[in-house]
Amino acid sequence: MHARFISFEGTEGVGKTTAINQLCQRLQAQGIDFVRTREPGGSDFAEQLRTLLLAPETQISDDTELLLMFAARCDHLQQVILPALDAGKWVICDRFIDSSMAYQGFGRGCGDALVLDKVQGLIQQFVSRLPDITIWLDLPVIEGIERAAKRSVADRFEQEAVAFFSRVHQGYAYQHQQDPKRVQRVDASGDVDEVAQRVWQVISHNCEL
Ligand code: TYD
Repeated sequence: MHARFISFEGTEGVGKTTAINQLCQRLQAQGIDFVRTREPGGSDFAEQLRTLLLAPETQISDDTELLLMFAARCDHLQQVILPALDAGKWVICDRFIDSSMAYQGFGRGCGDALVLDKVQGLIQQFVSRLPDITIWLDLPVIEGIERAAKRSVADRFEQEAVAFFSRVHQGYAYQHQQDPKRVQRVDASGDVDEVAQRVWQVISHNCEL
């Protein structure tokens, strides 16, 4: 069977971690060998960048943030993702390029065409492998924020206002519209089993299981 690269995306509090846990259990049950990873981070060096990127005290420009996200991604791709896929393993990644379009392109850049071009350019130049399937867990922004507020201390992104996350949400809708075959929208409302079932349906349908 072909190694698959699957990314998960969504605004704060949509339940990505739980949905990924559920998928990993299913893959294990099917005897599929996989690597679970995340962005920003996933490799030793990228995890160091993650610490800086998420620290509330970090003060950087939007361009610096964008470039660091891609520096982290570049290392992660070379050190972890591509070797795993080459070894025939599936890669399940918590966030990938669509987070950059949504957070840097729409959240920070307000969907400005010049900013979107910058992000798109970085993807084209530095990301040699796109996910086969991207699961966009879609939930009304306010519901997600309420869920996320129950968790621990807010990182640099979680401190943003509702308007920021509404733009991020718009960014995901844009990505879905641009490439509906890869970026699949999954309704993230309902209980854990319902969402897990929806995710599994998309994956089994698209990954020749
Ligand atoms: P994380 O704790 O993983 O957030 P979540 O639990 O919501 O997935 O933090 C990652 C943060 O980094 C998240 O707020 C989104 C942001 N991010 C970007 O802004 N651009 C990117 O390219 C990536 C990968 C993440």
